[in-house]
Amino acid sequence: MGAEEEGVTHHIIVIGPPASGKGTHGQRLSVDLGLDHVATGDLLRTHVAERDELGEAAEDYMSQGQLVPDELVVRMLSERLADTAGGVVLDGFPRTVAQADALADQVGLGPTLVIVLEVPEQVLVERIAGRRVCPNGHVYHVSADPSEQPGVCDIDGEPLEQRPDDTPETIRERLSVYRDQTEPLVDRYARQGLVSRVDGVGEPEDVYARVRQAVLG
Ligand code: AP5
Repeated sequence: MGAEEEGVTHHIIVIGPPASGKGTHGQRLSVDLGLDHVATGDLLRTHVAERDELGEAAEDYMSQGQLVPDELVVRMLSERLADTAGGVVLDGFPRTVAQADALADQVGLGPTLVIVLEVPEQVLVERIAGRRVCPNGHVYHVSADPSEQPGVCDIDGEPLEQRPDDTPETIRERLSVYRDQTEPLVDRYARQGLVSRVDGVGEPEDVYARVRQAVLG
């Protein structure tokens, strides 16, 4: 199924606080609709792992739970989207009003549907404590979505570990950054009539069904 045949908005933005399920549902949506999935958190972690110039510049911001400066993230995203011919699910971008302006003005992406995942903070903290990731970005949760063999990725057999920014201190900072810098962007998209709010609590299958309904109507 292709998004074009379905008449679906080509550029879908998934916004939500840390651990709200942006990656889980953004990835699934992209496969389901035949769209590219672009997650700025994953892109940045690849640069950090490769220890290139962008990774070196981004690492401290990420480990402290702060946003990487707009200019660096916008440049990285523009380069990544240059390879994208069709529609895209954007996961974790934009996160500021300035990034949204750059998306429209510099990257030139047209009308968007914005899915906002809503999850209470207590649930977010529990999800972050139980999240495990493999070096290739596959995501699990020790109780909600465990791997078959504890500590080993089902897909590529790599060892699972906690993300370095999934600490209690950093999560508080990431939640505060979301409230201060991303919620104003959600308000603006809502005033433009682009936002569809989705209850992100419940079994992942049930949440995904709501996300799909919000996109396909
Ligand atoms: P990023 O990687 O985007 O982190 P985040 O926004 O904090 O989001 P997460 O990856 O923590 O969570 P998610 O919403 O994807 O949830 P997930 O599906 O994994 O960014 C990291 C850092 O990079 C930022 O802090 C910043 O420094 C920088 N950065 C990134 N983008 C940037 C930008 N645009 N501008 C500037 N800086 C930027 O799910 C979480 C867990 O819950 C998993 O274990 C999952 O299995 C589980 N789970 C999911 N759904 C459910 C469910 N329904 N029930 C139970 N468990 C569930």
